[in-house]
Amino acid sequence: MSIVLVEREPPVGIVLLNRPEALNALNDELMGALVEALAELDGDEAIRCIVLGGSERAFAAGADIGQMAEATAMEMYEARRIDRWDAIRKVRTPLVAAVSGFCLGGGCELAMACDLIVASETAQFGQPETGLGIIPGAGGTQRLTRAVGKAKAMDVILSGRFLTSDEAERAGLVARVVAREAWLEEAKRVASAIASKGPIAQRLAKESVNRAFESPLETGLDYERKLLYLAFASEDAHEGLTAFTEKRKPEFEGR
Ligand code: CAA
Repeated sequence: MSIVLVEREPPVGIVLLNRPEALNALNDELMGALVEALAELDGDEAIRCIVLGGSERAFAAGADIGQMAEATAMEMYEARRIDRWDAIRKVRTPLVAAVSGFCLGGGCELAMACDLIVASETAQFGQPETGLGIIPGAGGTQRLTRAVGKAKAMDVILSGRFLTSDEAERAGLVARVVAREAWLEEAKRVASAIASKGPIAQRLAKESVNRAFESPLETGLDYERKLLYLAFASEDAHEGLTAFTEKRKPEFEGR
């Protein structure tokens, strides 16, 4: 059985982590297969939104502790394991994390690297790394703090406490909380809604929202305006605006 399961239900692509015996702990093999699967779907014109999930018991329980226990600092540095995560940041297709069960350490960082999180009411979010004598290394201290603010981020990272879905939603980490059994179906439904909009506009909008975390307001506003002008250059914009005036549904071609 493959360590990553890929399903294509155009316009939605689904990638499921499949290492149940280790609660989807992210070892090299799993990360390699994940990055490859995402790159392939990202390059597929028929796919306009990607759902990334695990199983009902665990989205992912973190980086693989066994693998890290054997590694030296220099091996970690040379293997550039975490550098690999940059490939996820570069995925242009909207990425929805479908989270059920444990979403810890590198698992939580992976969910936060997605564009939005749809979580089952059973999901638990945490960054328990300091309990292992290390710290989050794939964006946890940065993305969690930006998502929930300093007070909650310090609480989660320093105390090791897990957030429930409801608390994570109230704090701004999770976009929607859904019933236990509906975690994947609801995420697919959200992905279908995202996939029904103009694909070029979605990519530009994603890029623009992400820019909000990296720039002062004025720079961000400037950037947004330029991407809007770029959107106007697409055939999709012409189609979307004309379809509205003609009272019909737009047919976006992604051009
Ligand atoms: N790495 C490797 N194996 C893991 C793992 C991990 N992160 N998390 C769970 N597993 C394995 C367990 O070792 C166990 O394997 P065996 O059956 O062979 O013993 C199997 O998955 C099932 O786990 P448990 O028996 O522990 O299940 P549980 O229901 O009793 O507990 C849990 C679940 C609370 C999630 C517990 O497994 C746990 O605490 N896991 C570790 C969570 C953690 O600390 N994550 C952070 C990792 S560090 C990191 O991610 C660094 C970074 O920022 C990049």
